[in-house]
Amino acid sequence: MEPVKLADGVYWVGAVDWDIREFHGLGTPQGSTYNSYLIVDEKTVLIDTVKSPETETLLGHVSKIIDPVKIDYVISNHSEYDHSGSLGRVMEAAPGATLIASKDGVKRLEQMFHQDWNFQAVADGEELSLGGRTLRFIYAPLLHWPETMFSYCPEDRILFSCDAFGGHVATTERFSDKLGVPFVMPYTRSYYAFLLAAFRRAAAQVMGKIAGLDIDMIGPSHGPIWRGKDDLAALMEAYRAWTSLELEDRAVIIYGTMWGNTGHMVEAVAEGVSSGGLEARAFNVQLTDPSEIIAGSFISKLIMFGSPTFESGIYPPVEAFIPYLRVPRDKHKKIAVFGSYGWSGGSIPKLTQALTAEGYEVMEEGLKVRFTPTSEELDACREFGRRAAEWARERLAADAAGEAAAAERQ
Ligand code: FEO
Repeated sequence: MEPVKLADGVYWVGAVDWDIREFHGLGTPQGSTYNSYLIVDEKTVLIDTVKSPETETLLGHVSKIIDPVKIDYVISNHSEYDHSGSLGRVMEAAPGATLIASKDGVKRLEQMFHQDWNFQAVADGEELSLGGRTLRFIYAPLLHWPETMFSYCPEDRILFSCDAFGGHVATTERFSDKLGVPFVMPYTRSYYAFLLAAFRRAAAQVMGKIAGLDIDMIGPSHGPIWRGKDDLAALMEAYRAWTSLELEDRAVIIYGTMWGNTGHMVEAVAEGVSSGGLEARAFNVQLTDPSEIIAGSFISKLIMFGSPTFESGIYPPVEAFIPYLRVPRDKHKKIAVFGSYGWSGGSIPKLTQALTAEGYEVMEEGLKVRFTPTSEELDACREFGRRAAEWARERLAADAAGEAAAAERQ
């Protein structure tokens, strides 16, 4: 790869990681990128670095534009290692550079690297003049760590947003308008669901902070750079919907199967869900990366767990998925459970108990079928799916009415 020009004097100088398949728990089936940006003005600035194995790629890209020794400022928007891993080599290559971060960011970098670098902590809203340009620092706490900030260049109308608006996908093309929103958005969604949905309220606040900015381009630290009016509008609308928890008319069935009997039930349950007014999608936990299931389900109205009984309890692959429900950290989801059994049918009460303990509202009386479902039992599965969809919609409407009444009382 070569450096890529975003605007006069502004370049992408990051690295493409074609091989990464797992990123602290998130599946990355199409790899990722670590985006660094170089701004050459009267002062020269490097915004974020890359994961340590890609350090020489970063310095090679910078060297094609300017001698790294001329870097005046290194900005750490976010101190997680995929963006700070090259700091040691970069600060060696640019010994006169000042390392800028948020107040908390400076503390994190000191704790992480134990180096006596020339730090400068910046405040929320503080500006740095580069000569012909300015960089404004916008605190973006919890996107994705508490110390995170964005850097905004008003003259070029570029927002450097680090993890926010990013996606894990490796491509030779750097811009969203070349790749197309339908290609980029699923990676953006998966990334948000796995890393940022837990901080939905913080993300909504930051969306409010940047709402008035004049933005032509958003340069995140992973994946494509968002460019073009329509692409940026699609991105903002997606984040608006996700951060405001605008639920999709969808039910996601998360299941495992030992001898195919729970699998047979899934098909009939899905048909019933559909007749109850929700689109149904099913994910077999034995075949699917958890991050794919989270991206599919994080704003669904209903989740259904299908599990055969194993040793009087939940089938282990299904049980292993339950903690992943905590990743988006929201309890709005309504849950219903079903499954096949041979002897005791213990999976249904234990699923109900485990999911209730996680804080979810679970529909009473899960459905169980002994061994192979008969055609009458498959009809019961359809009826169960229909009833669950209607129950979830009614319960969510009741929750919304309760919240509205509570808000009115305040
Ligand atoms: Fe891309 Fe939170 O690091």
